[in-house]
This record gives sequence, structure tokens and C-alpha cells, in this order.
Amino acid sequence: MLRISNLHKTYLKAVEPTLRGLSLEFPRPTIAGLLGPNGAGKTTTISILCGLVRPDSGTVEVLGADIRTDLERIKKRIGVVPQSIALYPPLSVRENLEYIGALYKIPGTILQQRIRHFLQLFGLDHTGSKAIRYFSGGMKRRANIIASLLHEPELLVLDEPTAGVDVQSRNLILQFLEDYHGQGHSIIYTSHLLEEAQQLCREVAIMDHGQLVVQGDPRLLMKDHGFSSLEQVFLHLTGISLRD
Ligand SMILES: Nc1ncnc2c1ncn2[C@@H]1O[C@H](COP(=O)(O)OP(=O)(O)OP(=O)(O)O)[C@@H](O)[C@H]1O
Ligand SMILES: [Mg+2]
Repeated sequence: MLRISNLHKTYLKAVEPTLRGLSLEFPRPTIAGLLGPNGAGKTTTISILCGLVRPDSGTVEVLGADIRTDLERIKKRIGVVPQSIALYPPLSVRENLEYIGALYKIPGTILQQRIRHFLQLFGLDHTGSKAIRYFSGGMKRRANIIASLLHEPELLVLDEPTAGVDVQSRNLILQFLEDYHGQGHSIIYTSHLLEEAQQLCREVAIMDHGQLVVQGDPRLLMKDHGFSSLEQVFLHLTGISLRD
């Protein structure tokens, strides 16, 4: 599903490198969590694997394809939900989705069916015509997720999809991710909610300072380190000092 090897990235004019030889591997289709403190390099890693940021060196294989040679094909097979809402605020959710669907060249009837289906699934069917700028945080997050699903990606990559949403929206999003995985799709997601990641993920990779700290099945990591929660493992391995 994802293989990252010795990835390095220093942003232009940055004082320090963001990724310092990151290597990690999620071999099988799964629900994987990419975890780490603020500034660990999670968003940078996601931006690299979807082609938004170019690495300085290292290799990344997504669904068995190399991002250096197969990026356009990879883009068609993955859906990315960015950390910040990537929708046009003055447009309605339906208009946003129609626009995105057209970019993917999804035929009109199929696109309308999918929009109807997902608006209903994410509880937005009654607000399809309302401008995104009037949406609540949870509604924006749900709409942001739909935008990544219209082309039916095999792999869904979500950067903090449950940040700042209420319990109801979070439940809906997590249930959707379980179901999507149950239908044979792969998921990589980031979150600072370790309890949530512990429940959802079959595999996690904890990174810090642009490197892998540890990866594996959360239950095995807890057992190996002698803790009863993933959060305890995380704190044990990454320390309690602030990252700012
Ligand atoms: N475009 C950029 N230019 C310069 N530095 C950047 C840029 N984007 C990120 N960085 C820096 O790279 C480091 C890692 O950032 P990144 O956003 O990848 O971390 P993150 O793990 O996603 O953090 P968070 O949990 O806060 O979202 C940070 O120190 C950040 O300031
Ligand atoms: Mg981030």
C-alpha cells in the first residue's frame, strides 16, 4: 500500500530539515495511522505522496507505483483529504462537488448519482444548496471528505479528518472509514487523538522530528512496551517536551 524509504525534505529557507531519512512501510491494504507530535512531518509526508511537495531525496511507492515515474496514475487511484478545508466558500457543497467531479472527468449522470449518494451518507443532503461558508466545522469536514471520494479511490489519505468536529460528526466519519475499508479500500489517516487511532487503526507509524520512531499493530506496541493505551506508548517514545 505504501513504502517510504529514506525520505528527506528541507523546505526553501527553512532553518531545519522537516524529513530526515523517513522510512516506513504499510505493505498490505489496511487502515493505517500516521501519528506524531506537531511538526513531526505528517502533512509533509502526505503532501509528498500525493505529489504536492517534491522530496529532496528518497523513494515513495504508493499502491506499488513510484511517485517519480507514475504520479499521474497514482493521483487517479488515491483520494486526499487535506488538513485544511479545500472547498470554495461562496459555492454550495453541490457546486463544489460538481466542479471537482468535472476535474476528474466523471460523466454527468454518474457524478450526480455519486453526489446524491455521498451527501446522503454524510448527512448533508438537506444542505446541498447552502454555501460552504455558512457550514459548521463538522459539516465542512464531512464535505471535505466527500470531495476526495467522487472518483472512488482505492486508497484514501486523510490528514486530521476528525480535528475540531463534534462527537456526532466524528462517529459518522469513523464509521464511514470502517465501512470504506470493509469494502476493500485502504486508508491512511493522521490524528492527534490517540484513543481514536488505537480503536480505528490496524497499523500505526509514529514519527517525530522527520523520522520513524516505531511502527506496528497498536495492540502489539502496547503489549511490547507494557502500556494499556497507545497514548502512553506515544508519550513514552516521543517525550513530554513541547514542540514549539
Ligand atoms: N511550506 C513550508 N515551508 C517551510 N516550512 C514548512 C512548510 N510546511 C511545513 N513546514 C515545516 O515543516 C515542519 C513539519 O510540518 P508538517 O506540517 O509536515 O508537520 P505535521 O506533523 O503535519 O504537524 P501538525 O501535527 O501540526 O499538523 C514544521 O516545522 C513546519 O513548520
Ligand atoms: Mg499536519
